[in-house]
Amino acid sequence: MSTEDIKSGLIENRLFQPSAEFTAKARIKPDDLKALQKQADEDYEGFWAEQARKYMDWHKPFTQILDDSNAPHFKWFADGEMNVSYNCIDRHLASKADKTAIIFEGEPGDVHHISYQQLHDDVCQFANALKAKGVTKGDRVVIYMPMVPEAVIAMQACARIGAIHSVVFGGFSADSLRDRINDARAVMLITADGGNRGGKIVALKEAADKALDKGCDTIENVIVLKRSGQDVHMQEGRDSWWHDAVAGQNKSCTPEWMNSEHPLFLLYTSGSTGKPKGIQHASAGYLLNAIVTNLWVFDLQDDDIFWCTADVGWITGHTYVAYGPLAAGGTIIMFEGAPVIPDAGRFWKMVEQHKVTIFYTAPTAIRALMKYGDSFPNSYDLSSLRLLGTVGEPINPEAWMWYHTVIGKEICPIVDTWWQTETGANVLTPIPGVTATKPGSCTLPLPGMAVDIVNEDGESITEPNKGGYLVITKPWPSMARTIWGDDNRYVETYFPKFGGKYYLAGDSARRDEDGYFWIMGRIDDVLNVSGHRLGTMEIESALVAHEAVVEAAVVGRPHELKGEAVVAFVICHGDRPVGEAADKMVKELRNWVGEQIGAIAKPDDIRFADGLPKTRSGKIMRRLLRTIAAGEEITSDTSTLENPAVVAQLQGKA
Ligand code: WTA
Repeated sequence: MSTEDIKSGLIENRLFQPSAEFTAKARIKPDDLKALQKQADEDYEGFWAEQARKYMDWHKPFTQILDDSNAPHFKWFADGEMNVSYNCIDRHLASKADKTAIIFEGEPGDVHHISYQQLHDDVCQFANALKAKGVTKGDRVVIYMPMVPEAVIAMQACARIGAIHSVVFGGFSADSLRDRINDARAVMLITADGGNRGGKIVALKEAADKALDKGCDTIENVIVLKRSGQDVHMQEGRDSWWHDAVAGQNKSCTPEWMNSEHPLFLLYTSGSTGKPKGIQHASAGYLLNAIVTNLWVFDLQDDDIFWCTADVGWITGHTYVAYGPLAAGGTIIMFEGAPVIPDAGRFWKMVEQHKVTIFYTAPTAIRALMKYGDSFPNSYDLSSLRLLGTVGEPINPEAWMWYHTVIGKEICPIVDTWWQTETGANVLTPIPGVTATKPGSCTLPLPGMAVDIVNEDGESITEPNKGGYLVITKPWPSMARTIWGDDNRYVETYFPKFGGKYYLAGDSARRDEDGYFWIMGRIDDVLNVSGHRLGTMEIESALVAHEAVVEAAVVGRPHELKGEAVVAFVICHGDRPVGEAADKMVKELRNWVGEQIGAIAKPDDIRFADGLPKTRSGKIMRRLLRTIAAGEEITSDTSTLENPAVVAQLQGKA
């Protein structure tokens, strides 16, 4: 066990019980949870079938539940037919047509409420516009948008007609966009002139043009939303404005009844190789876990205002913005901007103004806002809040306590939700009216989720606080179905060990004496920077694509705000850059990585040397690089290195 574990072991005694008041109103009370767990334990498939019948409307009811005949490719409810958009919108219209579905606030402060009826009409019109441009069932549509309601409308419209969307986060560069379009072989791109973010305009159409100019031959049409109002180039015959595309379109569009297993979306995420993987989700199973977690974990009720701050470019923005809360009939907030514009009180001002009751964000945002002190949150009325959540990375107990006291006023339960793009929805998390929480622990598996920690041989680790591989031992409805276009990689990445029996999450974890889970970190070459997954190989390939670079190695270093920071060790052609030449090269390479991947991947620190530390067999010693990056003392023997002199260079000592 590392010292880090011993440290957290000391504070895990703090237990926070949900208040009796919260529990009294909660959807899931202690007895309900027990009953759900009992049912899931006794009849796993029956349990999921019951939820699927209870919470979703089926066009053609399913008779098959789990099909595991082709493991590790699993199917759920495979002979059923439904439509995701119908389940998110149409079925609420009889009782909730006037209820607000989306409260939007733009970064400049414009506010706009959209009712379920309006959402229905907008989604139908846009779906008809897609059809008019020839998009049909199974076609891939890439969405590269700011955080505006039209992003959700576009996603829902795709779901309505069975087109498979792939949302690309607006912070990704033109090159990243091009790679994703090409990998998905998308026929349409939906974007905007620009979005407002951080007090600036993000020129999305300009980036899209750059991507398209570099060869995205499959794209036939581009639809452009007017948002920022700046001038953009519109290519005749290919590009059309959103408002023109929907003009005159019918406000009703019969949903296509889709097979449960029809792919709903692709979402690209980083892995251990240089190439991002297109995680493919199915329709019914995905939506089921999205609904039940919005109800069980976020306790979403009819009068709640749910604000999940994630961008729709990430899985959290899919499951807890675009799909789950709507399928549960809730009201969501969408915010276009950054949390510190115009100042660090923006989130709290919005909580006050819109009377937000449930607030879900990332530890990195909590840490960043905590840094500005208590006066910002204390100047607003946060009394509407009743439940808080976090996701994306382990939350340090200090940030947890600040969230609990300063934001939650010690009365809001905090749900620390562990899950992944691949799991589709929350997996390990407290149930807010039931589970006692511990700062820094994502507590326990949800009913129906079989989670374990195992050793190299796949044996369950029962000894408390001993780390191991986090695995999910039974298939679940919202699990990823494959990696788009690379099924082998799916099998090799997620089912490589233990005879292909268990889903390998890629995280290490331990369980404490109470069986609570504590996530320790990734076991692969994936960094978690501000809650965003970045592959070290991806950044390395970007660096070596620069003409000045011969070789590069990227590692993470603990960072107070971001969780992890990117550190790159770079070998250049010719002499090692020093002094001003080094400063210039650092700038150049940071910008280069920004162009190749996106601003989030820019290294915080770049160091040059004559070579990388390698063993005599030629293997880069990454562990040593991590020690150097963290500025820690090197305790391992470096004399066996092929080139020991480079160590001092990388440390900045020579
Ligand atoms: C990490 C985000 C600790 C973890 C939903 C996982 C977490 C990766 C938590 C998935 C949490 C997510 N505590 N670590 N509550 N939530 N992670 O695919 O390493 O963007 O494997 O999905 O984030 O990141 P992804």
